[in-house]
Order: sequence, then C-alpha cells, then structure tokens
Amino acid sequence: MTKPSSRSSRHARPIRRRKFILKNGIAAPGGGSTAFVPVPLEWRGTTRQVCGLFPWASPGQLPLEGAPIGRHQKSRAVICFDHVSWFLAHRIANPSVLIIAKPGLGKSTLASKLMLWLAALGYIVLIPGDTKPDYVEFTRRLGGDHRVVARSGGAALNPCDPGGMAAAAARIGGAAGATLLAEAIGKATVCISALVELGRKGPVADYEEAAISACLRLLYTRNEGAVPVLREVVELLETRPNAVRAVILDRGVDEAYDRLVDPLQRSLRALLDGQFGDVFARRVQRTADRPPVVNIDTSRIKAGDPRFLAAVMIAAWSDMYGMVEADQALADEGLAPRRLYCLTLDELWRVLRLGGTMPDRVNELTRLNRTQGVGQIMITHSIRDLAPGRNSEIEGIEERAGAIVIGGVPKKELIALDSVVTLTNAEQNAIREWWSTSVSALERNEVPPGAGKFLIKASSEDPGIPVDVVLTSAETEWGGQNTNKVWGGGRGAGDAR
Ligand SMILES: Nc1ncnc2c1ncn2[C@@H]1O[C@H](COP(=O)(O)OP(=O)(O)OP(=O)(O)O)[C@@H](O)[C@H]1O
Ligand SMILES: [Mg+2]
Repeated sequence: MTKPSSRSSRHARPIRRRKFILKNGIAAPGGGSTAFVPVPLEWRGTTRQVCGLFPWASPGQLPLEGAPIGRHQKSRAVICFDHVSWFLAHRIANPSVLIIAKPGLGKSTLASKLMLWLAALGYIVLIPGDTKPDYVEFTRRLGGDHRVVARSGGAALNPCDPGGMAAAAARIGGAAGATLLAEAIGKATVCISALVELGRKGPVADYEEAAISACLRLLYTRNEGAVPVLREVVELLETRPNAVRAVILDRGVDEAYDRLVDPLQRSLRALLDGQFGDVFARRVQRTADRPPVVNIDTSRIKAGDPRFLAAVMIAAWSDMYGMVEADQALADEGLAPRRLYCLTLDELWRVLRLGGTMPDRVNELTRLNRTQGVGQIMITHSIRDLAPGRNSEIEGIEERAGAIVIGGVPKKELIALDSVVTLTNAEQNAIREWWSTSVSALERNEVPPGAGKFLIKASSEDPGIPVDVVLTSAETEWGGQNTNKVWGGGRGAGDAR
C-alpha cells in the first residue's frame, strides 16, 4: 500500500489559503464542518511497478486457488491453499506439501481439510498408515474403505504384490505389461528388503536383494499371473533354483549357497511367524472399484512397537503407491478410467527416526512421478528427520515438496529449517511463539493457542503466508478433527474458540 508521501506533496500545487477557510470548514454557501474524514486512497502494485518499496509486510495478493482453509493472520483475508490447486495454478513446481510442526498443533487437522477439498473435487484419497487414528471419521463420512491392520486377523499386506500391479500387468500384456511387471517386482523387492532390515535390525546385502528379486521373477512367470506370497519365496529359496544361484554366485556349491542364503531365509521366516504376526503372510483381496477414501488403520499397533509400526507403514505405502501405478498403467491402455489421487503420509517421522537405511527406503518407495496424477501430503515433526546429517539421500524429500507449511517449532528447529527455506525475522519470531505458547497450554491441558497457525511457503525464497486454520461448523460438529477426544470434553476442537 502506498500513500502520497510528504515528499511528493512538496511538489504539489500549493493550496492558496484564503481567509474564509476556517478551522471547521469553509465559510461560504454550502460550507461547514466536515462530517467525516475520508479514507485516503490506497494502491497496490507489483514490486516492478512500485520498485523501491520492497519488502512488503505481507504479500500483495493472496491466492484464490485451492481449499479455503482459514484466514490471513494480519489482514484476516481468506486463504485458499491446497498443493494440487497451487500446482495446477503454477504456484508450486510439484503437487506435494510437507507439513512440519510439533505435536498437537493441527497438522492432521490441516491435512484433513486439504483431503476433504480434494475428495470433493473427485480425487481418491489414500491414507496408508493412520496411526492415531486421525482419519477414521473422515473415511466413514465419505463412504471410504477402512482397513484395520492388526498383528493377527486384521487386514493383510502382501509385500510380494504391491497394489495389484502384477494383475494389472497381466491384463495389459505385451511390452507395456512386461514393463509394469518389472516395476512390480522392483517395488516388491524394495519393500521386502525394508521389512527384512527392520526385522533383523541390520542392512540387507546387495546379493540378498538380488536373490529376492530373482525369486519373485520366477514365481510370477511360473504362476502365470497368480500372486505369490512370502511363504512361497521362502519355499523357493529352499530348492536352490538356478536363477538365484546365478545372482548370489555360489558357483554350483551347495554349501556356498546355504551360507549365503541362510541369513535371508532366517529373516524371511521371522517375518512370517515372528514378531510381525501374520500381517505379511496373506494375500490381499482386491476389487477393481475405488472408494473415495482408502484408509489403512495402523492404530492397533502400539507406539511401544516402533519397528512393527514402521514395517506396516512401509508395506502399506508400497501397496498404495503400487495401486496408483497399476491404475495409471491401466488407464494409459484405456482399460480403466483415469483417476487422480491425494496420498497422505502422516507421521513420516516414525519410519525416518528408525535411521539406518530407512530414509533411503522411504525415498525409493515414495518417489512418484508427478505425471501419475498424485498429490502428496507429507507430515512430520521436524525437518531434522529429513536432514542430510541422518542420511544424504533423504534430502530429496524436502526438495520434492512443492510447498512447505511450517507450524510451531522450537528455536533449534528453525536453525535446521534455515538450510531449506529462508525465513524473515518476523516469520521466525511468529513460529517460535506458536510453539512456546503451545507448550504452556499443553501443560494446562488446553488446546494450544498455536494450534492451527501455519506459515505457507510456496518456495524457499518467497515470503510465507501466515494463516489461522479455521474449522467449519460441520468439522467441529462431527468431531472428526478432534484428535484429543480421548481426553473427553476438555481439549476438543470446539473449545479452541
Ligand atoms: N485450527 C484449529 N482450530 C481449533 N482446534 C484445532 C485446530 N487445529 C487443531 N485443533 C485441535 O488440536 C488438536 C490436535 O490437532 P491435530 O491432531 O491435527 O495435531 P497434530 O499436529 O496432527 O498432532 P500430532 O503431531 O500429535 O499428530 C485436535 O484435537 C484439534 O481439535
Ligand atoms: Mg497428527
């Protein structure tokens, strides 16, 4: 906003003061005291048009594309944001958003808002790993598919069959089908290797990965489209097939084969009958129709079991990413309708914090081409979970995030964020305050004042948009966003106002 400056008024035509201009107005017919003070004219301009007056206290024009999520903290203007609409409007380079804030500050609530909007636009919402669970009511209200994973008797996750890709490959046939099958085997190998790593708490050797891949290839070609399960991989390895012998280079010596393959055998058997129950041992029942929401509920797995939870999350991610790839390959061939997706990875930190090669595995599994029509929401507590110090490969995740949304975080987190985004002093102070006020509120068992306060950064250099996320009456009424329900009425969403 610019106002005529005193400098410019020096050059303006001087007002000739006449004696009939009095204190209260003009002493002439029609004159008199001024009833109201007119509002001065305001102008808006780009930095090019009014250069020299940059930086602005707030961005000149707020985006009108996307879900109306709340109000600008300063101007109270409506803020519209979702990663897909902003991508389509060329505001961000890829359709994904990384949401970072300390616990209880409304990350999942904001994600629900974005998902609700995209579901209304016809996107299929995929939630592989609802750990709290935060999105059960959301799924129920939208008529979605709610699959509960439990150690025994719950929904199955077959790591050999990511999302029914092999069945889709068989339907497609020809060169395109063969390419999809190769992708399916690659994805299944990554998933099984990650599970083995989690089970044995150590890395998987390259020849072990090659052995898994060779087994899967054999099983898929032998069974002609029938989906294998992990037990069949174990049984096949027992028969010392030539395809596996070739990749592990045992030179035809049985003792060498056993020495190399036995550790893998032990780890795979532990996956089937050990600490992970029967989750990874069974086939998944698949249907061609897609409900508006698919929610894999991992809440039955307790927080004290981080490895099992991470294993389930990884298998669930692999399954959903596989499903998207299968659907898009079928659509490319005209065998299925073209669908668009919103995929939400909440509680990303649970897997990343296990360290080791987990960040690499996450990177491998979540590398989706934006041409596949998937908008991603990634949610974590700290940018340091993704930091190069842990593992250089993970840098890709925050680089792949089109927009970064930052909620209340402490000072040391701001220092880490500094390497990824440029934050002005005012922005840093606000973020720190949202966190510090929230800590004291948590001690008093209230909804923190920092809940729902976020800074939306469309790029690392652009000034952020500070937003107060506002829950609609419907959201408050259904209580679906109240992830503190277990505390009774004390800390509900409705109490925030
Ligand atoms: N914009 C908001 N207005 C009012 N209340 C809110 C808002 N956002 C979140 N809350 C309340 O704060 C609580 C925590 O929200 P939410 O579960 O979304 O946080 P979170 O950041 O995902 O937490 P966690 O890291 O533990 O998963 C919820 O009960 C919700 O009702
Ligand atoms: Mg949450």
